[in-house]
Amino acid sequence: MMNMSRKILVIGSAGQIGSELVPALRKKYGGENVIATGRRTPLPDAIKKSGPVIYLDALDKNSIAKIIFEYEIDTIFHMASILSATGEKIPQTAWDINLNGLINVLEVARSYKIDRVIWPSSIAAFGPTTPRENTPNITVLQPTTMYGITKVAGELLAEYYYNKYNLDIRSVRLPGIISSETLPGGGTTDYAVEIFYEAIKNKQYTCFLKEDTVLPMLYMPDCNKCMIDLLEADNSKLKRRVYNLTGISFSAGEIAAEIKKHIPEFKIEYKPDFRQAIADSWPKTIDDSFAREEWGWNPEYDLESMTQDMIDILSKRL
Ligand code: SER
Repeated sequence: MMNMSRKILVIGSAGQIGSELVPALRKKYGGENVIATGRRTPLPDAIKKSGPVIYLDALDKNSIAKIIFEYEIDTIFHMASILSATGEKIPQTAWDINLNGLINVLEVARSYKIDRVIWPSSIAAFGPTTPRENTPNITVLQPTTMYGITKVAGELLAEYYYNKYNLDIRSVRLPGIISSETLPGGGTTDYAVEIFYEAIKNKQYTCFLKEDTVLPMLYMPDCNKCMIDLLEADNSKLKRRVYNLTGISFSAGEIAAEIKKHIPEFKIEYKPDFRQAIADSWPKTIDDSFAREEWGWNPEYDLESMTQDMIDILSKRL
């Protein structure tokens, strides 16, 4: 049964995912029941106008507790994170925000007996020793980025808090997210969003990954669906806390070719930088059969329909 009376706290509401997840949650659970928080980046107007908005530093445990107490929060989405490429520039800060932020949330969640916590892991939890094709849910996790290290540690913490404290935390290893509302910041998969903006505005794009680099991706409407489906999944069917997940795998060359069908003048060149090594350490395709079997994961978009939708939305706006 869906619990339609949730009181949800979203930490990291201004980010690429948070800025679209908050409106999706408010649509489902009601504007007043979804508390959007942020710290550095201003929140989008749509979020400010549709429900409560609060300043929150995820490193400040007492402030998290205060919001939980005042708003009678029972559900937390912890989305604040420093991504892979930025994490390589400021690894100690990435450790601090990603892991100390997470353990704060877990500690407060267990002491306030929070009903459910959703926290995304990432394909960055995998590394060069992981099989790269059809990567299984249970496999080698030896990432080479600080971001990946924080995700592996976070996954272990999730299992630990579930087993030791019975905290119902759930996680998915998100692939690259393609979205039209807020640009991603500092990730290795960001090219797959930037390419649309540049194709529409300037008809050309210089890609920081090689043409044949294949990575798993997910379109934002499917990402929102995933977050809500995971939140509402029946706990008795879940055999683990962390799930592989994927939408569409494609190479930089394949997405460029798909965009060219809509914008024939579009030109792309490839100038790989330090992010190529990160991409080369991640899977190309993901086996997400556990998510499909245990909570019915089933994405809707393929490369063609995602590209069409992105171009429709961005052409109107830009
Ligand atoms: N999109 C993320 C990144 O590129 C992967 O989780 O860092």
